[in-house]
Amino acid sequence: MVKKAELHVHLEGTAPPALVRKMAARNGAKLDPTTFKSVGEFAWSNFWEFLDCYDKAAATILTKDDYRLITYDYLARCAKENTIYVEMFSSPDHAAEVGMSYTDHLEGIAAGIDDARLEFGIEGRIIVTCVRHLGAERALAIARLVALTPHPYVVGFGMGGDESRFHPDDFAAAFNLVTKAGYQTTSHAGEFSGPESIRASLAALPISRVGHGVRAIEDPELLEELAYRRIPLELCPGSNIATGLYKSWGKHPFRKFMDTGCLVTLNSDDPPYFGTSIGHEYEQAAKIFGLSKADLKNITRNAISAAFCGEELKEKLLSRL
Ligand code: ADE
Ligand code: ZN
Repeated sequence: MVKKAELHVHLEGTAPPALVRKMAARNGAKLDPTTFKSVGEFAWSNFWEFLDCYDKAAATILTKDDYRLITYDYLARCAKENTIYVEMFSSPDHAAEVGMSYTDHLEGIAAGIDDARLEFGIEGRIIVTCVRHLGAERALAIARLVALTPHPYVVGFGMGGDESRFHPDDFAAAFNLVTKAGYQTTSHAGEFSGPESIRASLAALPISRVGHGVRAIEDPELLEELAYRRIPLELCPGSNIATGLYKSWGKHPFRKFMDTGCLVTLNSDDPPYFGTSIGHEYEQAAKIFGLSKADLKNITRNAISAAFCGEELKEKLLSRL
């Protein structure tokens, strides 16, 4: 099995329905019954409903040990698929929503990373993210936490959420602050908004990767620019198909990005919501886009090269390929 590395996965979005129920039960937390469509499925039918459902499920992550548990559980599943490195988005806004402090939230995740490393040899790091639709002030507050409270596993800053809300310019202060503090950054762009959203993000924010960026396919000049500048793209085909951006794997433009010379990576985004996993993304990409083992290995190499962790860890990971 090819070794894998993942750069784009939302930690709160990795907990499957059974784990969400388990956390709710052990915390005596109320679980909104509209969270699930069936025993094993989250209930949502478009991107905005997905974001809503994500928030309801995340509201069951109440303690430091819950964060440890979801992190460990996710990394254990990744390790079984021969994944050697995961860079995961964590959202202090979701933690704050249930009354958890920034440091408790990080310490819980760090404990999960340590436990998984000990048992499976997998390595993990954290990208702290803000939520775009919560606005610029919240983003700046999160950026300040990142800059002023360093943690050895926090390697970057990111932004998810509803891309149709606000303008990248509104978040320049937050991104500039963490960049000055020495962190690399990434932002979701060109997922649900078009190529202009990617252009605006690249112009306004000091990002070194693009989250998704898939809609650059609609703008040949931008596609060429992304390839020329070797800007890593965190592509998430299974997510794009589940949210209805493309009708099927056969219609996804992944192969075109690769053939244009873009630096592509494969990612699962919110795996149990989208019926996927990092292993499934690699498997489907091989089958549908006709990728060889060497292609897949190169995608892993791309991910490690584009990772925000330090050079020493990158060298160690690359030597494992
Ligand atoms: N938050 C969690 N998953 C997301 C996605 N796919 N796009 C934007 N924000 C998200
Ligand atoms: Zn995402």
